[in-house]
Amino acid sequence: MKRKRFALVGVSNRGRAMYALPLCTQFGQTSELAALCDISQVHMDHCNKQLPKPVPTYKDFDQMVKEVEFDTLIVATIDSVHHEYIIKGLKAGKDVITEKPMTIDDEKCRAILAAEKRSGRKVTVTFNFRFTPPMTLIHRLVQDGVIGEVITVDMHWPLDLAHGASYFHRWNSRRAYSGGLQVHKSTHHFDVVNWIIGDEPEFVSAQGGLAFYGKQGPYRSKRCMGCPHKGKCQFYLGLDSEPFWRDFIQLHRAAEKETGYVADSCVFDPAIDIEDHYSTMVKYKNGAKFSYSLQAWSPWEGLELQIQGKKGRLEYREMHSANAWKDPRDRQVIVMLNDGSRSIHTPPIGIGGHGGGDSRLLRMLFEPGLSDTEGQMAGTRDACNSVLIGVAATKSMQNKSAWICIPDLLSGRRKA
Ligand SMILES: NC(=O)c1ccc[n+]([C@@H]2O[C@H](COP(=O)([O-])OP(=O)(O)OC[C@H]3O[C@@H](n4cnc5c(N)ncnc54)[C@H](O)[C@@H]3O)[C@@H](O)[C@H]2O)c1
Repeated sequence: MKRKRFALVGVSNRGRAMYALPLCTQFGQTSELAALCDISQVHMDHCNKQLPKPVPTYKDFDQMVKEVEFDTLIVATIDSVHHEYIIKGLKAGKDVITEKPMTIDDEKCRAILAAEKRSGRKVTVTFNFRFTPPMTLIHRLVQDGVIGEVITVDMHWPLDLAHGASYFHRWNSRRAYSGGLQVHKSTHHFDVVNWIIGDEPEFVSAQGGLAFYGKQGPYRSKRCMGCPHKGKCQFYLGLDSEPFWRDFIQLHRAAEKETGYVADSCVFDPAIDIEDHYSTMVKYKNGAKFSYSLQAWSPWEGLELQIQGKKGRLEYREMHSANAWKDPRDRQVIVMLNDGSRSIHTPPIGIGGHGGGDSRLLRMLFEPGLSDTEGQMAGTRDACNSVLIGVAATKSMQNKSAWICIPDLLSGRRKA
């Protein structure tokens, strides 16, 4: 059997661990990694060293397309350039798999939709959160009508100090690269709610700001590594940090000449221009209302989700901590119906990265012949619906919490 050939652009953390390695190992019987592309040779060499056999590397994407035969392009660069590669890949006649968020603004959403339509090829967007056991179960319960027509959804996601701060050390803290957390991070959460209730967002209003990081704190140094405040700062990352961060900083430091990117910036850098908290209201086309909040410096991390249907209510709370998931009571989906009955559903423990979402998604992407029985594979329309909630939230925050119309953003009628 001929193996399917993949090229990967963006080969740092996510690209290497999620795609390059599994393609060459777990899925190596049916798939083949044909080439790597990145602006950094350091990142490509680092990736190649971990593969069973090195593959050709390219700094020039167009040259790779000319020289290498492949079927599907995988995009795992920083968010702000996803669209460039998605569109080039489609133009070259390739199917594309892209990391979330598909892109960071409405203009780029429209450009991708148009390119996909022209090309006749397909873009798949990798929303691993859909594939976690709790979200899969909740989607099934709601889609089976257990709580009836959905009227309201509440989702709240506090990021703990370590996780929250990790975004403010990196490129993610600049709107030009990530679109802000409401695009970069919340795209998962907006997508999963859109998917669970099976509806499309119509209007969005939001309030938020920067209360903790950036200019709200004492700016200390250009980079954590070597910072004179290391003994006093709870956000210090450096050579004596835990191994993941130590290796991460060393690798990015080695690549800095090529990328110009400091991966251990001060979380109190006054140049940080994204929000660290926001509350968002979404009204859906069929009338459901969704209230959402995120804060990036909480003492605990996790998810609170309540879905109110006409027949009853579903509640779920997930606490991420060292002991999370061990006790089945930590992962119970509780369904209470208006007739007084109540049922408790316990999803299985997800194995592997991102609550088990990564491994299930990988199988769907690379294992031939699996059928998408839960409708978890997402395309450009789904991706636009989640990106544009975040984009609309930004526009709303910049416009005194005005209601922003998603179909207008999608069609290009709204220019602001
Ligand atoms: N689904 C998830 O749970 C999940 C988790 C982590 C990251 N991600 C996504 O994966 C992507 C990569 O994230 P990461 O954490 O690996 O970031 P990273 O900064 O570690 O890696 C980004 C890579 O892109 C390369 N790059 C930058 N600009 C480029 C350009 N113009 N052309 C080609 N390559 C370029 C960099 O050199 C680097 O190798 C992001 O889109 C992120 O949102 C998704």
